[in-house]
Amino acid sequence: MDGRTLQKMIHDADKGGYAIPSFNYSDIWDLMAIIEAAQELNAPIMFAANQVVAGVFTPGVSGAMGKAFMAQGKVPMIHHLDHSKHVELCLQCIDNGYPSVMIDGSDHDLAANIKMVQEVMEYAKADGRWVHVEAEVGKIPGKGVEGYVSEEEKFLVEVEDVKELVKATHVDSLAVGIGSQHGFYKGTPKLNIQRLSEVNDAVDTPLVLHGGSGIPRETVREAIRHGINKMNVGTIIHCTYMNSLREELNRVGENPYTLDVMASIRHNIKEVVKEWIDTCMDVNRA
Ligand code: 13P
Repeated sequence: MDGRTLQKMIHDADKGGYAIPSFNYSDIWDLMAIIEAAQELNAPIMFAANQVVAGVFTPGVSGAMGKAFMAQGKVPMIHHLDHSKHVELCLQCIDNGYPSVMIDGSDHDLAANIKMVQEVMEYAKADGRWVHVEAEVGKIPGKGVEGYVSEEEKFLVEVEDVKELVKATHVDSLAVGIGSQHGFYKGTPKLNIQRLSEVNDAVDTPLVLHGGSGIPRETVREAIRHGINKMNVGTIIHCTYMNSLREELNRVGENPYTLDVMASIRHNIKEVVKEWIDTCMDVNRA
């Protein structure tokens, strides 16, 4: 399995008017829940390690785990490195069998961002490899604790920047800052759909929306209808995991057994994942 499978998944999603959901995992337990949900619904998905997860498990271990899960899939499931701020980590993950990586140079100016993307793109397509590369233009900030950032100009993607980066890198997909942020929001997030449409009209590159957890479902579907091809979801997975763990440990009391506790947690995570698959893939439903 390489990045071309993902290209086809995204292409099919674009034609079919839906988006590929990408779920962030922290360890093997939530990853199993994500995989089981996708299998049960027969849904093509991505599962993503952020740079902390890839670093803690190492690219070798997480890459091997990813390969094993991808091989099990009746439907295509793609392992992805999410939000790497470092070119080197992208290259290590490529070496260890990740079919898709994100290089996030959005903290830098456009020229530096482009250079980082070029370095990763060159390696991703070298020596007969074909690894999918995602970049980011505009900013998708923090943890949602400072209030919401809707439509603030400083975070918004500029259409001219997108054109320049795409022309210089031919990157495979692009995360765009349109007012979403990672984590839950204080207030109702309002995405700049107008800007999303402008970007979508300006380039053929598939577009990615980050920060799914706190965005109302109808707003997610509206973004998909206006050009989003991949939807990232993380915080709701982590919170379901940890809150369910606390509840289950309280319920069981003394001497809990890991596999019993995890069975109930996996069930809860699976329900959340299924709901998100439905949101992303059944877009025209009210
Ligand atoms: P949330 O944590 O807000 O769902 O965002 C996930 C994400 O965008 C990962 O890149």
